[in-house]
Amino acid sequence: MSLRKSFGGVKAVDGVSMDVEEGERLAVVGPNGSGKTTLINLLSGLLKPDSGDIYFKGIRVTNKPLHARVKLGIARSFQLPSLYQGLTVRQNAAIAVSALRGFSLRPVDEEDVRDALERFGLWEKRDLPVGSLSEGEKKILDIALAVVARPKVLLLDEPTSSVAEENKFELMEFVVGRLKGVSLVIVEHDLDIVEAFADRVAVMHSGRITAVVPPGEVRRMAV
Ligand SMILES: Nc1ncnc2c1ncn2[C@@H]1O[C@H](COP(=O)(O)OP(=O)(O)O)[C@@H](O)[C@H]1O
Ligand SMILES: [Mg+2]
Repeated sequence: MSLRKSFGGVKAVDGVSMDVEEGERLAVVGPNGSGKTTLINLLSGLLKPDSGDIYFKGIRVTNKPLHARVKLGIARSFQLPSLYQGLTVRQNAAIAVSALRGFSLRPVDEEDVRDALERFGLWEKRDLPVGSLSEGEKKILDIALAVVARPKVLLLDEPTSSVAEENKFELMEFVVGRLKGVSLVIVEHDLDIVEAFADRVAVMHSGRITAVVPPGEVRRMAV
């Protein structure tokens, strides 16, 4: 059954049925308020749907909390405000690793932290406060922290928003290059980015997916 989620009278997600193939990069486009973030929230477990089901590799995850889905291999990039601006890059990474373990009191494995930061070129910046990073570096850190979980599918909500226009392409190339084999669901406004990086594009309007098209056709869809 397709996914639905309302907030009061607002049908944020109003009957979405969609599959994501292994290893594919699915872009989700649509106007503000069309339900893209709510869909990501449902898939990641931040929100529970009013109706409908979510399956991951045949396992019904509809009622599993976010951390249980992370264990199975579904991760999302954290929203920027969830980075602790006053703490260092390394401290933020340690918190992310700890969170993945349900905040158990076991000490965080320094190797996991180092791996995540090295993979995304942030190890040299480990002792800097996050507040001193560029917007692009914060976005990359945000994604690096999600990747600590070694996800099979990664949900990226506007990975290039707040990044300067001239840096968006480079950022995506960098990120996508480090996520080979990981299925990606990417909410993205910039159609140049969508065309360059997506395998398929789902177009959302008023809580529904109104079309699924190849990236070359997305400009015709009057997004
Ligand atoms: N937590 C919430 N409480 C009330 N309304 C919400 C909430 N989250 C989203 N909405 C509403 O749901 C609709 C879809 O929002 P959203 O999923 O954020 O869209 P998008 O990411 O495509 O801009 C909008 O009308 C928005 O105002
Ligand atoms: Mg949104």
